[in-house]
Amino acid sequence: MSKIVTGFSKLSKEEKINWLANNYFSDIEDGITTLNQYISSDKKLQQLHDEFIENTISNFYVPYAIAPNFIINGKPYAIPMAIEESSVVAAASLVAKFWSERGGFHAKVISTIKVGQVHFMYEDSFEKLQLYFNKIKSQLLNATELITKNMRKRGGGIIDIELLDKTTGMDNYYQLYVTFETADSMGANFINSCLEAIARTFNNNEINIVMSILSNYVPECLVRAEVTCKIEEFFDDKPKYYAEKFIQAVQIANVSPYRAVTHNKGIMNGIDAVVLATGNDFRAVAAGAHAYASRSGKYKSLTNAKMENGNFYFWIEIPLSVGTVGGLTKLHPLAKLSLEILQNPSAEELMQIVAVAGLAQNFAALKALTTTGIQQGHMKMHLMNILNQLEANLHEKEIITNRFKGKPVSHNAIAYALHKLRTKA
Ligand code: MEV
Repeated sequence: MSKIVTGFSKLSKEEKINWLANNYFSDIEDGITTLNQYISSDKKLQQLHDEFIENTISNFYVPYAIAPNFIINGKPYAIPMAIEESSVVAAASLVAKFWSERGGFHAKVISTIKVGQVHFMYEDSFEKLQLYFNKIKSQLLNATELITKNMRKRGGGIIDIELLDKTTGMDNYYQLYVTFETADSMGANFINSCLEAIARTFNNNEINIVMSILSNYVPECLVRAEVTCKIEEFFDDKPKYYAEKFIQAVQIANVSPYRAVTHNKGIMNGIDAVVLATGNDFRAVAAGAHAYASRSGKYKSLTNAKMENGNFYFWIEIPLSVGTVGGLTKLHPLAKLSLEILQNPSAEELMQIVAVAGLAQNFAALKALTTTGIQQGHMKMHLMNILNQLEANLHEKEIITNRFKGKPVSHNAIAYALHKLRTKA
């Protein structure tokens, strides 16, 4: 047996598992049982999953939950979230309810432009290159005619192609900077196909194409979501004091990158969970969001808050490239159902929903952090995770949960309490 294999992709699923088990499992039977537990008994569904990626040997489940009672632009939503982290959904649900009693969330899409680039090297003068570009530009657009036909029918397509001189950053480096509208799709395949067709046409002996690829930085595919209330509605007890503390917490994230990363991570808890549940690409969204948070040259908060004229305002502005058609959105049965639960939104409506989920998550985190601290809310779920890890039964869970109500929770303390309970019994 060898830990290095050739032709792995050509093996059957069973052969793949056997090779893996023999070389990498500490307990072969146990490992295989674990893999099999997560295989769907529905053969068609499993085949679908097998074909999403390569070398599939099982499925990795993430809990799928609902945060109800969101009001966005006056419309009610129950938001599906796929996430493994405890407390995120509970927080979203609480915040949804809190703001539904204060006018709900307001969201609007600011712009929907996506970007792709053909990166290339050219050693002669920019003027000469510009002349060639001007001459060939309409041919570049024509080269995408077949690819853009359907997209144009849906209101999308190529907006423009620009030639950019990038030689201040790197010798001989230029770009074709292409802007797109992709209607209700995220558009990654569409953009990349267009770029490759453009690159093939943008061809002469002096141009050396390095690569053609979309950018996941989409600062012009931007959405804003906000909440507002009278300051006295912010909190039952000392509302102005707590609103001030809340705003300070946001300001701290604007001046301290260490804090900003955690602050924005909390926002992404909400964003990624909805992006994943709707079959969208959460890595693309996260990469774009963090880049946007650094657009000033310093990594800052994605949210902002202020008090003005007796009102409290809290808002987020975030680039979100998501789709409601194409990709996995209709292919993954749960993603399809998520979109149905969200009342089959357009991509723009989904951008608003996702931004609201991020804002809600940040609101929950900052409210907890500036009042009770974060651990109080986390402890209940943390306790349940530990009890599950220790394979506690329902009866044991009930007793231990009652015993640890309001008390700090640690793995050791729970293990000890469970041990005592079991040995007493
Ligand atoms: C935990 O996943 C997220 C928080 O740390 C976010 C924050 O600190 O703002 C609670």
